Amino acid sequence: MNDKSPVAAVTVRLATVNDVELLHRFSVDLASYEDEPDAVTATPQSLARDGFGKDPQFAALIAERGGTPVGFVLYTFNYSVWTAARGIFIEDIWVVPEERRGGVARALMQALAQECVAKGYKRIDLNVLDWNPARAFYERLGFKWIRNWLPYRLSGEALERLASPP
Ligand SMILES: CC(C)(COP(=O)(O)OP(=O)(O)OC[C@H]1O[C@@H](n2cnc3c(N)ncnc32)[C@H](O)[C@@H]1OP(=O)(O)O)[C@@H](O)C(=O)NCCC(=O)NCCS
Repeated sequence: MNDKSPVAAVTVRLATVNDVELLHRFSVDLASYEDEPDAVTATPQSLARDGFGKDPQFAALIAERGGTPVGFVLYTFNYSVWTAARGIFIEDIWVVPEERRGGVARALMQALAQECVAKGYKRIDLNVLDWNPARAFYERLGFKWIRNWLPYRLSGEALERLASPP
């Protein structure tokens, strides 16, 4: 047996409705990694409805090695009125642990950057937890930490309260 057989190259493809179980599994894996194992209330069915229907709310790229899925990036679209251009917001990026540091996520991000350039999108944004070593990965790729902007969110009871008539 030849234990020096070449490792198959990583390929990247657009996710389709047939991938919703995989997208869901990877999202749950990422949520667990981020210490929020119960945060994913989406289901494969809701992913099919919201990502692959008439008005898709997100898209995803899947990385494969030798035909086996090894990672994904899931993203939504935004728009900058200042630059009159669309942008991409990364919701999830995940590489299976045994494939890390092998260029899988770089291949995913390169494909995403190519889509941006081809379509005239001006930027890629994301949020990352302060303790996550993925920060070094983003910085390696050229992402900049925007230090003077802080994320704010209105949700749950606070959202209901503001929406309620006084
Ligand atoms: C972050 C993550 C997606 C990176 O995936 P990966 O496939 O291992 O990354 P790559 O091998 O493509 O690395 C690309 C570059 O970043 C560097 N890099 C990757 N992970 C790094 C780390 N933890 N620390 C320092 N550098 C890192 C690599 O050395 C590589 O540099 P090079 O191309 O100059 O050699 C992966 O570690 C992961 O899935 N982490 C858990 C999920 C997660 O944190 N997602 C982000 C949520 S915000």
